Amino acid sequence: MIWFPYEQMKTMKQPYRIADAEGVYLYTENGEKMIDSVSSWWSVIHGYKNPVLTEAIKAQADRFSHVMLGGLSHEPAEKLSCKLEKWLPGDLDYCFFSDSGSVAVEVALKMALQFNINRGSKRRTVLSLKHAYHGDTFKTMEVGDDEDYHAIMTEKKNVVHIPTELPALEEAFRKYGEELCCFIVEPLLQGAGGMRMYDISFLRRARELCDQYDVLLIFDEVATGFGRTGNRFVADLVLPDILVLGKALTGGYIGHAVTVANHRVFNGFYSDNPEHALMHGPTFMGNALACAAALKSIELFENGNYMDRIRSIEEITRREMAGFTDPRIEEVRIMGGCVCVEVKESSVLKGYQDFACKRGVFSRPFLKYLYAMVPYVIGEEQLVQVLDVMKEWFRDQR
Ligand SMILES: Cc1ncc(COP(=O)(O)O)c(C=O)c1O
Repeated sequence: MIWFPYEQMKTMKQPYRIADAEGVYLYTENGEKMIDSVSSWWSVIHGYKNPVLTEAIKAQADRFSHVMLGGLSHEPAEKLSCKLEKWLPGDLDYCFFSDSGSVAVEVALKMALQFNINRGSKRRTVLSLKHAYHGDTFKTMEVGDDEDYHAIMTEKKNVVHIPTELPALEEAFRKYGEELCCFIVEPLLQGAGGMRMYDISFLRRARELCDQYDVLLIFDEVATGFGRTGNRFVADLVLPDILVLGKALTGGYIGHAVTVANHRVFNGFYSDNPEHALMHGPTFMGNALACAAALKSIELFENGNYMDRIRSIEEITRREMAGFTDPRIEEVRIMGGCVCVEVKESSVLKGYQDFACKRGVFSRPFLKYLYAMVPYVIGEEQLVQVLDVMKEWFRDQR
């Protein structure tokens, strides 16, 4: 029996059973056809059953599906690391692959810690944001600030959380600057913590303070990477020392992630001392099928005017949501390919999923957040349908 995520198994609503999927559509066994407005947890940016991605995976499977990176190497992983080296901004050049976003964040935090240990520094404290979400493994829970998900994480060591406000940022560095080993953020858009959006000026100042206090800056772009904020990567605007990518890395076709370090971080490990090596090695890191999919996914992203598509998604969303208010709504937030309607009480969203399904949209609101992060291949009519269903819910429930 499947043990489903984030659900009380005794009372959970039966999931829709998917029989097929193509483009932006999911097809259930009962004959329902729904636009996937959350892109399978924000990953399936090219839509389902993309023939180019399917073919890339098939072609690689005909050669080999997986070969470990311990003592071995192969072309798909080498090509992908080369591509990322060229494609990512600044000197983010060293790619450490892993099998999920959570693990890739763990690796980033381990890198930051060991970077400091290798240089004989006692810095151990991690600065993180309020409402942060970085994954479900133990260290990511510890640097997260999401008691709605991780109530079991009651004891935190060496973590300080701050809001995305400049005075709090300045204060944290004044107070803890000399003990911080890194500052980890979901840049511009905090996803699972409530689709919270904040200003680039916060990150610019964070970069300055990290330089001043010799603290590593980590961008967790597992959710924001590949255009979601309307920027290709937020790292294009402010350069972190370590960048974490996942989800859309493979176009959502196979779970994979990467932790990319800059030269300074890499050089902190590069020596004749074996104890300075990074002690991590997920079995499926650099999986050949995932690397083949990622290479093609990046090619599609580069050659398919994706940034224009995302700009258009944002424009249509702003146009359609303009003037939309309801007393039960706290705020409507829009950034790039993300729209969030935050309601005042979570009970307002009860029943929304079935309501949307009947109107041809798959949605998965959580807590007080009704949101859409659509596949970038969505057409205008389909996007308007997603947004109309959101608005209709509030009109219908008067
Ligand atoms: C910002 C961020 N970091 C990390 C993760 C964890 O990724 P994964 O679910 O692949 O472990 C997520 C997942 O939603 C995320 O949004």
